[in-house]
Amino acid sequence: MIAGRKLYRFLMTTALAGLLLSGCKRTAVEPEPPAPITIRSEASYPWGAAVTPTHLANNAPYIRTARNEYDRITPENHMKMSFIHPEPGRYDWTGSDIVANFARQNGQKLHGHTLIWHQSVPDWVLNFDGDSTAWENLFRSHIQTVVAKYRGVVSSWDVVNEAFEDDGTLRNTIWLQKLGPGYIARAFQYARETDPAALLFYNDYGQEYKPAKMRAIVALATEFRRNNIPLDGLGIQMHIELRTDDAGIATALRESASTGLLVHISELDIALNINNDKNFQPNDALFAQQARKYANVVRAYRQNVPPAQRHGITTWNVGDADSWLLWYKQAPEFPLPFDVNYERKPAYQAILDALN
Ligand code: G3I
Repeated sequence: MIAGRKLYRFLMTTALAGLLLSGCKRTAVEPEPPAPITIRSEASYPWGAAVTPTHLANNAPYIRTARNEYDRITPENHMKMSFIHPEPGRYDWTGSDIVANFARQNGQKLHGHTLIWHQSVPDWVLNFDGDSTAWENLFRSHIQTVVAKYRGVVSSWDVVNEAFEDDGTLRNTIWLQKLGPGYIARAFQYARETDPAALLFYNDYGQEYKPAKMRAIVALATEFRRNNIPLDGLGIQMHIELRTDDAGIATALRESASTGLLVHISELDIALNINNDKNFQPNDALFAQQARKYANVVRAYRQNVPPAQRHGITTWNVGDADSWLLWYKQAPEFPLPFDVNYERKPAYQAILDALN
């Protein structure tokens, strides 16, 4: 990636060489002023965010930030089954197309989230009455239709999301009940058959504090390799808070990398209001702690995931006003590197400092 400051350094070097070769006559074109330093320009791996289509359509500071700050974007919700496939045989591409067009217009990669999950399953699926063949057809055609629609557009997919419980057993989802434990492998096969070029990820949360879940995911990767099931990477969501143990974060990253697969920190946010206090007010000390925690995550990624396995880091939306945690906690929260006005928080500089 040659972007921003990296590009500027390259242009400066080229211009200087030109000046020397032309006998130092000041005929060389003056280079553009330096591009602003961003995390994106300095990171050696893709830096991303989940995004909301309504904001991409009409929120100017959000649009500016989403365009300038990220190599890759992910629709936070609009590729989930309840959004994209709301009725039998009817797909709604409105929100996902807004995100896909934004990525295309701005030369960004698009990460698809998510083909199969136990949440965001539409009622028509929950109420579907069919035998095992009918269920398999529903499952396969959903995956094939969505992957085919974005073939060559989505460069990486969260194929299956959160299939394990914290104790490492398979989560008792509707997919497990109707399709049996082989559904995870078949989801990856259907996705690979439909778009052989897309990178395929298994995505989950809590690996940093639930070792049994981490072990189950590593075992899944080992079993997939043995059986030639296509799997390119592991997503660690990393919805964490100030008190999350740094050692657990490093262990989860190291064990994920031990599979040899790509590793994506896929939904990073760091909560401050750990007691979900309705009257919570942040202060500089808390923002400084949050900055250190972001730096620790970025450093742990660099130290535990070899360069060739770094799919990148994605934050779960852009600014503090956009976070799912506001709705989920029904309390104030400030978990992202940008504030409610899309100004950089202390976390932003801490991430920059921790990159190298
Ligand atoms: O904003 C409306 C609010 O106005 C309304 O009062 C409320 C009533 O239910 O709904 C609010 O919308 C909710 C929306 O989040 C707000 O961000 C939706 O109901 C709710 O379904 C939606 O939740 C999403 C959740 O996944 C379920 O799909 C979150 O946005 C999204 O951030 C979250 O993302 C998940 C990842 O996909 C997987 N990993 C965990 C992550 C966090 O839960």
